[in-house]
Amino acid sequence: MKPVTILAIESSCDETSASVCVDGKILSNIIANQSVHEAYGGVVPELASRAHMQNIVPVVDSALAAAHCPLSAIDAIAFTQAPGLIGCLLVGTQFAKSLSLALNKPLIAVHHMQAHVLANMIPQPLPDGTVSAPIAFPFLCLTVSGGHTQIVLATSPLAQTVIGQTIDDAAGEAFDKSAKLLGLPYPGGPLIDQYAKLGNPLAFKFAEPQIPELNFSFSGLKTSILYFLQKQETGFIAANLHDLCASIQHSIITILLKKLNKAVQQIGVKNIAIAGGVSANSGLRQALQDMGKKKGWKTHIPAFEYCTDNAGMIAITGYYKYLAGDFTDLNVSPSARAEW
Ligand code: KG4
Ligand code: ZN
Repeated sequence: MKPVTILAIESSCDETSASVCVDGKILSNIIANQSVHEAYGGVVPELASRAHMQNIVPVVDSALAAAHCPLSAIDAIAFTQAPGLIGCLLVGTQFAKSLSLALNKPLIAVHHMQAHVLANMIPQPLPDGTVSAPIAFPFLCLTVSGGHTQIVLATSPLAQTVIGQTIDDAAGEAFDKSAKLLGLPYPGGPLIDQYAKLGNPLAFKFAEPQIPELNFSFSGLKTSILYFLQKQETGFIAANLHDLCASIQHSIITILLKKLNKAVQQIGVKNIAIAGGVSANSGLRQALQDMGKKKGWKTHIPAFEYCTDNAGMIAITGYYKYLAGDFTDLNVSPSARAEW
């Protein structure tokens, strides 16, 4: 069979990304970050949409060039249709539609959260020069990003069920809002990760939520950190930054892994993956591996570039949708919120 070449576009939040994938192998994954938001302490939707408009043509050009792929070789165009910031999704959707019309190639609409999970299907190069074996089905995936925290049961690439999720803040928000309380710039997650490496995770203890089923809550943790900091003297944060970051990170990881463990016990599946921006966190990656060893799980962690938002994950999802004949037409519109 002729190889299947997918061009994928991701523009759901503040990363403009394009990727070329041939038969499930990612040949390029170009990501343009938007530094314009730093001054505002968070993503400004209108500025993000404008930055996508500026970035999208050069990013797609770079992805094609890096893959040595002419436009004529593309078999289908995949794009993030939902969920995300509506103005941002519109830029990627309209671009994908225009290209589909101009090239007369089919369109594939991709759900961003489903794609985060399938980032675990992207083969990873191993130190011995070979590539990692694909994750086996069924598996449980802890998807932790800036907007979502979910436990997903995947029984095949396109059959994914959310079995638990946050009832308030997402894990990424817990990192970013805690970082803000410490006076760190946005996005604070990677900074907490960095400072935590030098701190004591057991130095401070914050409230742990008691939430039923496989659901999560992070708003109580944020309040507990706020009240704790309000009681301290001036200069406390600067003097204890590393211990504070390590303790906050430890609290978030403990909440996440306790629920993941509960899900494993309930569902009986021991193939475990993580996905989403927070899966780039070095403490979470290590804690998952340690827990996996202790409990006899087979753990899967995507390469860093496929954890935070990227078009590689949209491309691999597009590839499986292509094989399933799951195409969309030019009437498709993006959606800020989308149920699975
Ligand atoms: O998946 P993602 O790139 O975008 C969404 O779909 O939301 O996730 C972004 C989130 C942000 O909250 C960011 O602070 C967090 O992922 N993040 C991290 C790390 N890298 C990114 N959180 C903790 N440690 C990290 N190393
Ligand atoms: Zn994401």
